[in-house]
Amino acid sequence: MDDLSGKTAVITGAASGIGFELAKQFGAAGMNLVMADVEKPALDAAAAAMTERGHEVLAVELDVREHDQIVALEAATRERFGNVHVLCNNAGVGAGGPTADPTNLEAWRWTIDINLWGVIYGCKVFLPAMIEHGEPCHIVNTASMAGLASAPFMGPYNISKYGVVALSETMSKEMQMMQTSVGVSVLCPAFVATGIAKSDRNMPEDVRTTLPEREENSEMQAMMEALVDNGIDTSVVGEAVVDAVRNNRFWILTHDETKPGVTARAQQIVHGVNPDLTGFV
Ligand SMILES: NC(=O)c1ccc[n+]([C@@H]2O[C@H](COP(=O)([O-])OP(=O)(O)OC[C@H]3O[C@@H](n4cnc5c(N)ncnc54)[C@H](O)[C@@H]3O)[C@@H](O)[C@H]2O)c1
Repeated sequence: MDDLSGKTAVITGAASGIGFELAKQFGAAGMNLVMADVEKPALDAAAAAMTERGHEVLAVELDVREHDQIVALEAATRERFGNVHVLCNNAGVGAGGPTADPTNLEAWRWTIDINLWGVIYGCKVFLPAMIEHGEPCHIVNTASMAGLASAPFMGPYNISKYGVVALSETMSKEMQMMQTSVGVSVLCPAFVATGIAKSDRNMPEDVRTTLPEREENSEMQAMMEALVDNGIDTSVVGEAVVDAVRNNRFWILTHDETKPGVTARAQQIVHGVNPDLTGFV
């Protein structure tokens, strides 16, 4: 769908990082913006910045773990702007930790509920009307390189992102078989400079209280923050997403250096080679 001007984009996780960048770039392309996020102060600031740029903005505070809140988002969008043309299921968090740790179960559930169930809800709630209205439109699901390669100690994140890749591939094939006008893309970046390493700023108290006291400057946390801070700029990701929507490209891989790892994993699968630590130590 090349013609974005005057159309409507819905973006979850729009208050920060990649989501905020998508709002900036789809806004610059002339789209109405529906910006949804759980972090109210950041959402208000991001929405105000987009309004200041002259874009039409609807800001919706919501938790993507809640199906009824996504249903309400769809209704509010329809009431304000009518049909949806671009849906970015982007809200996500990075949390979890080792599989062998029995104490982090609720953090695993929280991560999978947001990163996978949030995307499932977004697709199931918005897709029927996007098919029905028949105008060119597109869904972009934010996965990660973690949806194509499994780094150790990132169990729930990897699980959620593999799930998002699988859902997106499934939908792409279904949309082709059903001959709809809905395109699908899956976004799989490696490190991008955003707030993702500080995801627990949004962790609800009922999840936080189940976890052991976190060492503020743990080695693992410091390493993750450094990797994210040294990641690519969100503008590169935003440009790749807008280009994929305009040209109906499914795979959005923003880091060429990660591609050999995807090939190596596929080779291991077909040749029956056990997983190893190449690329991770
Ligand atoms: N930054 C990276 O290195 C990287 C790499 C690959 C994939 N991703 C993915 O990109 C997406 C965006 O993350 P980001 O890197 O911009 O991080 P970010 O923390 O800057 O932005 C994530 C946004 O999601 C919102 N959010 C969190 N939980 C929510 C919930 N329950 N309901 C609604 N909104 C919620 C946050 O408030 C925040 O505004 C995520 O899905 C993440 O997994 C990020």
